[in-house]
Amino acid sequence: MTASILPATPEAIERAARLIREGGLVAFPTETVYGLAGDATSEEAVARIFAAKGRPRFNPLIIHVPGLAEAEALAAFDERARLAARRFWPGPLSLVLPRRAECGLSLLASAGLDTVALRAPAHAVAQALLRAACRPIAAPSANRSGRVSPTTAAHVSTDLDDQVALILDGGPCPVGVESTVLDLTGRTPALLRAGGVTLEELREVFGDIEIPAAGENTPRAPGRLPSHYAPGLAVRLDAVDARPGEALLAFGPEAPAGFAEVLFLSRSADLAEAAANLFAMLRRLDRPEFSGIAVLPIPEVGLGRAINDRLRRAAAPKL
Ligand code: TXA
Ligand code: MG
Repeated sequence: MTASILPATPEAIERAARLIREGGLVAFPTETVYGLAGDATSEEAVARIFAAKGRPRFNPLIIHVPGLAEAEALAAFDERARLAARRFWPGPLSLVLPRRAECGLSLLASAGLDTVALRAPAHAVAQALLRAACRPIAAPSANRSGRVSPTTAAHVSTDLDDQVALILDGGPCPVGVESTVLDLTGRTPALLRAGGVTLEELREVFGDIEIPAAGENTPRAPGRLPSHYAPGLAVRLDAVDARPGEALLAFGPEAPAGFAEVLFLSRSADLAEAAANLFAMLRRLDRPEFSGIAVLPIPEVGLGRAINDRLRRAAAPKL
């Protein structure tokens, strides 16, 4: 099977929705990254997602819904969870909540946990697909497990061309890093993954936010594998000067001399622009003629936390 890449017209979205209802897999754009979509109520479709990505089965998937009304049928919302949904949905925030016994979701999608991660994406194509499919959609990022996430239809096609029937092309993803994963099952909200909604925004709404230690891999925070988002080349963080043959991801107007190639995440040091460019630029520099990819320091504030989280994992030793 070779995937057809189709512009996300209403007809193409309808076709994608039908494929999902029949148990097939399609790739679709969200505001964060492209997702690999399957019917979240079908154990077979969800099993196909894990197989297509080569994803370990202990790492649960995010379930996508149009909004709060549909989400409440799947998980138990308290007032705090409703507040989160009203404030940040549709948008790049996934909420981990107690799964309803009668939710009808695949058990595999939650990797056997009694919680479920739910998200209402803001992208117009994602919303249209969810409404046309008429069921919750399980969708991890549409890349091979452990590799750099896709922010264009072409990236999806490079990684998963033989695994999906159809790739809906909605152009480049505007946010460019995945959703923030916020666990609301405990007394204090816990940030399981930094993402498109910033810690500062969450603190404004919830006050205290717990941040589990990096690399901590508990039943509550599964899938926090140290090596993830990894290009083929070695990644070196907080670079100040060039090593022979290295390519550079620069942040801000200046780049030190001596790099074999330089791409600017953002010349104006704009973190939103840098996030939107991050994965595409990592992919562009991941070429055998370079000895590695160096990255200039990026401030650990706002979207910088999500960017640095992805870069630290890209730089971690491969398992
Ligand atoms: O932006 C996004 O979230 C994208 C787009 C496609 O929506 N999706 C995405 O999915 O990034 P994925 O599968 O690549 O990442 C899902 C994350 C993983 O870190 C997983 O461990 C966590 O969500 N997760 C899912 N269900 C969970 C649960 N019940 N408890 C804790 N963490 C969970
Ligand atoms: Mg992913």
